[in-house]
Amino acid sequence: MTQSSRLQKAREYETEKAKLIPEGQKPSFHICSPVGWINDPNGFSTYQGEYHLFYQYHPYDRHWGPMHWGHSKTKDFIKWEQLPCAIAPDEEYDGQGCFSGSALEMNDRQVLMYTGVTEKENEDGEKIVRQRQCIAIGDGINFEKLPENPVITAEMLPEGSSLADFRDPKIWEEDGVFYAVAGSLSEDGSGQIPLFESKDLKKWEFKGILAKCENRYGKMWECPDFFPLDEKHVLIVSPQFMTAKGLEFHGGNNTMYIIGNFRKKEARLEEEAIGSIDYGLDFYAPQTLQTEDGRRVMIGWLQNWDNYMTPDEFLWSGMMTIPRELQIKEGRLIQNPVRELENYRENERIHHGTTEEKQVCFEDVRGRTFDMTVEVSGEYEEFRIVLASDGEFYTTVTFDRKKGLLIFDRTYSGQRKDSICTRTMKAEEENGKLKMRILMDKYTLELFVNDGKQAMTSLIYTDLKADKIFFEGEGKAEFALTMYDIRV
Ligand code: FRU
Repeated sequence: MTQSSRLQKAREYETEKAKLIPEGQKPSFHICSPVGWINDPNGFSTYQGEYHLFYQYHPYDRHWGPMHWGHSKTKDFIKWEQLPCAIAPDEEYDGQGCFSGSALEMNDRQVLMYTGVTEKENEDGEKIVRQRQCIAIGDGINFEKLPENPVITAEMLPEGSSLADFRDPKIWEEDGVFYAVAGSLSEDGSGQIPLFESKDLKKWEFKGILAKCENRYGKMWECPDFFPLDEKHVLIVSPQFMTAKGLEFHGGNNTMYIIGNFRKKEARLEEEAIGSIDYGLDFYAPQTLQTEDGRRVMIGWLQNWDNYMTPDEFLWSGMMTIPRELQIKEGRLIQNPVRELENYRENERIHHGTTEEKQVCFEDVRGRTFDMTVEVSGEYEEFRIVLASDGEFYTTVTFDRKKGLLIFDRTYSGQRKDSICTRTMKAEEENGKLKMRILMDKYTLELFVNDGKQAMTSLIYTDLKADKIFFEGEGKAEFALTMYDIRV
């Protein structure tokens, strides 16, 4: 199939098929798949004054398949416009998929850098996979792949590096020079992040290894991002095949930040602090951009690889998180929903309550699309917020004050598969209070604790009619809540 026909086919398919999705089924302020499957955010960047987001995309199925890039844009991170499928796997060097990558604006053109995947059988019937970095240049809608592709190959990496696991380039520009980092597997069988440099996007030079996993945090490191923030540099990676470490990292795919000092001459990041980016069940492969007013904003895939929960009747699978503003405070990565969300708040409700005897509920505190902040204090043992409830189904967020733990639990959310339902993280009161901000958008619960010190993001697919919210606890917890509906 020629280039244009494979892309053409995807564009026609998505336009027709998307018409079959029932109105009101999709989330209202989170970006989600147009139709079929999406995973990682790709090419999150500014172009001609708007924010663009691409994503790993298989329009033909609700499960992963040959990767295309889907495409959306927004002026304010909240209201998104769907654009046609951007690129399809239609070249000899990317025929098995256009894997994750990034984008930037260059002289009025939009530059995409992605991983071209090939898979061939050798004479012994063995599968030979190659992942190489490629460039496509366009006008915000249509893209042309460079004749020089692939522009970076694994042969440029240190000896022993995998030729098959080398993907997810993040490109940026600094003083007229282009840089890129990518995920790679080193000879010790675990991740490394090589740094490359180029003057013209076509010829790239390997500069060094920015960071090494050395078998400490999982195996392959996917989807790196690297950027300056508050006097430091931050490397974000999504490690595969991790073993659980206390409450900081769980088994399987995780996301992790490394804060440190960038030794540019040595192409090395000097590590200072490492932590988990999100403690929920559904968060992966985040990517960032810088806004014109200087904010570093991150978006992640709001799903995970191991627990597929998309309801059978949906024609689409996959959502992204609310874009989050990043900061560093006390050596930690802080994240809070973009401030633009506040423009969509409606119908403010303010209440105070005490959970001394029984459940506390308020007539006007219910819903599935809201922004709610709860501050709780007192000498209590446990405080629980029950959400998306209809009596039979519900989801809880519990603060075990004695143990200093915050527990998310979707066991009774109506899940019909035996997937993982709970996750626990450490949480501490600050000045005698725990502050929780919960964003819910139909199927998503994003929890930000103590002004973004920790985030916990998970999916729930409870029927949308289950919209009751109440509060309960053990001991006398006093709480104040402010709630808004979000209307886009
Ligand atoms: C991460 C990832 C990337 C890869 C893409 C394929 O979720 O595995 O490493 O580029 O998904 O869809």
